[in-house]
Amino acid sequence: EVVDIDASVYEAGEHESYMRKEILEQPTTAQAVLRGRLDERFGTAHLGGLDMDARDLRAVRRVKILGCGSAYYVGQMGAALIEELARIPADAEAASEFRYRDPVIEPDTLYVAVSQSGETIDTLLAVQEVRRKGGRCVGLVNVVGSAIARECDGGIYLHAGPEVAVASTKALTNMFLGFALLALQLGRVRDLSIADGKRLVAGLERLPGQIEEILAGEADLVDVAKELAEAHSLFFIGRVRGFPVAREGAQKFKEISYRHAEAYQTSELKHGPLALIDPDVPTVALVPADELAERNVGALHEIAARRGPLVVVTHAEVDLGEIGARRIVVPRNEPELDPILLTIPLQILAYHAAQHLGHDIDKPRNLAKSVTVE
Ligand code: G6P
Repeated sequence: EVVDIDASVYEAGEHESYMRKEILEQPTTAQAVLRGRLDERFGTAHLGGLDMDARDLRAVRRVKILGCGSAYYVGQMGAALIEELARIPADAEAASEFRYRDPVIEPDTLYVAVSQSGETIDTLLAVQEVRRKGGRCVGLVNVVGSAIARECDGGIYLHAGPEVAVASTKALTNMFLGFALLALQLGRVRDLSIADGKRLVAGLERLPGQIEEILAGEADLVDVAKELAEAHSLFFIGRVRGFPVAREGAQKFKEISYRHAEAYQTSELKHGPLALIDPDVPTVALVPADELAERNVGALHEIAARRGPLVVVTHAEVDLGEIGARRIVVPRNEPELDPILLTIPLQILAYHAAQHLGHDIDKPRNLAKSVTVE
C-alpha cells in the first residue's frame, strides 16, 4: 500500500512542477546540510547529532548502509566515499531485502539508515532489526522527528527542506553530502591526513556553486532529453564511482518517463548487453576524468561501432575522439566528490524527457513519495 504525502506544505509557485523547483533549489539546500559542520582548520567535519565521540568513531570496523530506491543508490555512493576516505569496508544494501536474510549484526559495524521521509517502512524495519540484535544504527534523514530518525541512535539531519516530487533530487544531493561529512569525520579520526581533509573541506565548499553552474546550462540539455525520451529502452553506464550514478540516473529516468532504463557497469557491457546496442537504443555514459577515463572511452567505441546513440556526461579534459557523442561537460571537484556533480545533469535529462512526454512529473503512475505500509 502506498500513502500520498501532503503536497500543501509548500507551493510550487511559478515553477511548472515541484521537481523542477527542487532541482533548482539545490545550490541553496546543499549549503544548508554543510552549514556549521565543516572545520577548515583541522580539515574535518563536526557531526554532533551522531552522538559518537572519537573513540566510538575509531572503533568502527565496517559500515553497512540501508535504504530504498534512490536512497539505496546514493548509499552506494556513500559507501564508496567511506571506503576511500576512511579505509573502512563499507557497502549499501536494499533495506527492503535486509531483514529477510536474518542478517548477522556485528557490534563494531556502524549501520546507517538513509531516508528522505524517515517513514519508509522497509527502512524502518531494517533499523529495528539492527537495534533488536544490539547493533548501532545512525540515520541520514531529511524529515525531523520522523519514525526512522526517532528509532536511530543518532544521526545527521539533511536540512533539504520539504521535498514534494516523488523523484528525489535535492534530498538525494544532501544525502551524498551527508555521507561526505561522515566519511570525512571517520577518515580524520583514522589515517586521512589533514592535507586531504582540508582538500575535501574546500571541495565541499565549492560544490554548491558548481551545482549552480550545471543548472545554468539546463537549456542546452532539453533537446538531448527529448531525443532520449523517444527511445523505448536505454542504458546508463558507469564504472566504480560512476556506477551508482548510472543506477540513480536510470532510476530517475524510468520513474518519470516510463521508459525502460537499465544501469550497467561499463566494464560489463561486453559480457552481455552489447548484444542489445543498435541505433534505437541510446546509452548515457558517465566518463569522469579519472584513471578509468581511457578504458571508458574504449567501451564507447564499442557502442559507436554498433551505431548506438551516445550521450556522455564528462569533464572538459576527457578526449572522446571521433565517436560522434553528445557531450555534457560538468565542472570538476575533488574526484571523491565528483559523483554528485555527474548526477545533476541526469536529473535534468529525466525531467525534460518526462516533460516532453507530457507526464505528471511530480506524481508518476504507480509510485508514492513514501511507502509506509509493507
Ligand atoms: C519510494 C519513492 C522513491 C524513494 C524511496 C525511498 O519508493 O518512490 O523515490 O527513493 O521511496 O524513500 P525515502 O523517503 O526512504 O528516502
